[in-house]
Amino acid sequence: MISYDEVTAELSGEDKCLSSKYLYDKRGSELFERICGLEEYYPTRTETAIMQKALPEIASIIGPECLLIEYGSGSSTKTRLLLDKLCAPCAYMPIDISAQFLEQTAKLLKATYPSITILPLCADFTALNALPELKVNHRRKIAFFPGSTIGNFDPRNAVELLKRISSTCGEGGGLLIGVDLKKDPEILWRAYNDSQGVTAAFNKNVLVRLNRELGADFDLDKFNHWAPYIEDKGRVEMRLVSSAEQTVSIGETAIHFERDEYIRTECSYKFSVGGFHALAHDAGYEVTGVWLDPQKLFSVHFLTVTV
Ligand code: AVI
Repeated sequence: MISYDEVTAELSGEDKCLSSKYLYDKRGSELFERICGLEEYYPTRTETAIMQKALPEIASIIGPECLLIEYGSGSSTKTRLLLDKLCAPCAYMPIDISAQFLEQTAKLLKATYPSITILPLCADFTALNALPELKVNHRRKIAFFPGSTIGNFDPRNAVELLKRISSTCGEGGGLLIGVDLKKDPEILWRAYNDSQGVTAAFNKNVLVRLNRELGADFDLDKFNHWAPYIEDKGRVEMRLVSSAEQTVSIGETAIHFERDEYIRTECSYKFSVGGFHALAHDAGYEVTGVWLDPQKLFSVHFLTVTV
């Protein structure tokens, strides 16, 4: 559900932005799945390759009979790699904001892994303080947060979220996390401005949602997708740039745009390995394992809860 108050406040400021969680309704989640399969979008296949290679080591660090909790599970593609290789996992809890997507995925997983209890949880994990009561015995809780979704939080919120995950997993718990690395901006440009326009459709879908769910009157042809890498901030910014001076209504609220003024719809921070480890320490973890691809495009880390 989109909050009228939140959206109008975000669009009324000087720095117009929208929360990136609004990108993920059913259509948005489907488009994101398509992005993950694009040749230009290197993170998904690179992370998968890193994990495939590191799986024996990861499985031995995690040990037997864990409860695996995935933050922002989408279609749980990478989870299958883990569920196939972990030693007798007890249960898997996918957490996702998109109810329809979650339901479909849980159904498929139940059919494929009849011995693992599947506990889908439809929630905004950024606001999740505690898990529902669990009736499954397990040795340790392991959070799985792939895809560098951590990069979609500003550094302060990223530390807060990592702390929240650590208190959810508790003592002895762990976090397996994928983190995108700083690299040649040209590679980033292609990844976030793909030639088929899938990322553009994903970005503009948020305006389709505002029109449908809040009765706004955004003209989609008057906004262009643009996603530059902002070097000094170390992040890609997804933007919707107004191609004309225009006024858009959202219910009673009028939002004025100058030509070339933009709405920032998502930030995607890129890290150095050292920079990410500093963040992890701030959040109360120690680093137990780190794996990179040969080109050092992406990284996967196993963090152990220390507090
Ligand atoms: C979900 N998240 C990690 C993606 C990213 O790369 O920041 C979302 C995305 N936005 C555009 N392309 C992909």
